[in-house]
Amino acid sequence: MSNPKVHLRSFGCQMNKLDSNLVENAFASAGYKLTDTASEADAVLINTCSVRGGAEERVFSLLGQLKHIKESRPEIVVAVFGCMAQRLGAELLNHEAVNIVCAPAQIPQLVDMVADTLESKVGSIAVTENIRSRPQPELSERLDDFELAYDRPQERLPSQAFVRIMRGCNNFCTYCIVPYVRGPETSRPPSAIIAQIKKLAASGVKQVTLLGQTVNSYRYETGENSYGLAELLEMVSEIDGIEWIRFVTGHPKDFDEKIFRAMAKLPKVCPYLHVPAQSGSDRILKAMNRGYTSSDYISLIEKAKAIVPGIAIAGDFIVGFPGETDEDFATTVELVKKVEYKNCFVFKYSPRPGTRADEKLGDTVPAEIKKQRNIELLAVQEKISLKLNEALVGAKVKVLVEGLSKKSHLNRAENSGLPQLIARTATDRIVVFNGHIELAGRFCHVQITKVSALTLFGELLDRLTRII
Ligand code: 5AD
Ligand code: SF4
Repeated sequence: MSNPKVHLRSFGCQMNKLDSNLVENAFASAGYKLTDTASEADAVLINTCSVRGGAEERVFSLLGQLKHIKESRPEIVVAVFGCMAQRLGAELLNHEAVNIVCAPAQIPQLVDMVADTLESKVGSIAVTENIRSRPQPELSERLDDFELAYDRPQERLPSQAFVRIMRGCNNFCTYCIVPYVRGPETSRPPSAIIAQIKKLAASGVKQVTLLGQTVNSYRYETGENSYGLAELLEMVSEIDGIEWIRFVTGHPKDFDEKIFRAMAKLPKVCPYLHVPAQSGSDRILKAMNRGYTSSDYISLIEKAKAIVPGIAIAGDFIVGFPGETDEDFATTVELVKKVEYKNCFVFKYSPRPGTRADEKLGDTVPAEIKKQRNIELLAVQEKISLKLNEALVGAKVKVLVEGLSKKSHLNRAENSGLPQLIARTATDRIVVFNGHIELAGRFCHVQITKVSALTLFGELLDRLTRII
């Protein structure tokens, strides 16, 4: 088959977006054509997420649609990769629509697996047998090589790239599936990370986001040298061409003051911290096995705010964890008010098979209460976000432009005739303003004129509104 067409769908977190980007580039390099239409593809690839039941349901519904398409085009090859592939393994291969199952640690094999199935029509599976055993060094090296070979600047987010600094997780929060699908925590060698970022910078990347489940527990030892996240931030800061550095996600129990001091000292490191609290109740935090109390968390945030001027904090919360009472939830609301997050992601507890919470605690909070708590917590946060944003009216801010805004109805191109662009500040606030599309992927300065809880609206200050 010459230049077969491949269609990719991606669910889940930044880690998955990064894997999808690598996989897409690997297929393009192997001569495949990318298509946005599943029904005209020769192979459909689905990168899946297992963190909540809803994400898995969406994949099953897509598989249902593909089964339908396969009734008229049975030759289409469907490959499921990512977390569901590792979690469900052979069970997924039994699904009528699925031909290939490939776990996250095996993605370097995906191109060959698809090519073989397109030719032989025989399905295949590649997953890790004992996911919690130490990953074999050859497997890690293969993943590193794959990453280095196929990492490219994001097409959809010009001048930006995500770079994995570690894989897996050892924390075993009782609700979480990640340690069972992504395996033990391993930190990539700083030399591989730096080589990759230098390559990205040479191809025009200006902002890198360092990725890991708990980036602040990054640790790599070579002989006498030991590198943590603070040292890594220093090293990345020295790379010419990189102007902004971010890192996600942090775990509250592993923050070393050195990281905050590095953030304060290094101008390229954005003053932004995503550090999920999950709950404000000490009883629930203990049941979640989070390793800190709400007062530990608040002290940590106070320390970050004291050391890093203007730092913006983002958080995650789970509502309706088994046994969560109205009083427990009230302490979560209190914590949110105290921290004054820039924004929060709120999730309804979703029992995950095989996790300790699911096996020992069940799912005791009714769906309706989870929903109410979710709405209430988001409403509390919305007021805080609006208040923090209102203080920014009139401010002149530096932004990195992402591209055209998707919600142009919010701020029409009054008079200017220029399209509406979407950009982000160093503190990860969304800014919308009218400007030339060729500003995408560039830094510029904007004055904030009005705000909502989620968005800042502004006017371009740089005179360079036309690029010729
Ligand atoms: N149910 C609901 N939310 C969850 N998260 C992780 N596991 C679950 C679960 N079982 C949330 C946490 C985490 C984010 C990525 O997803 O808040 O920080
Ligand atoms: Fe899951 Fe906890 Fe690891 Fe985050 S730190 S990936 S919530 S187990």
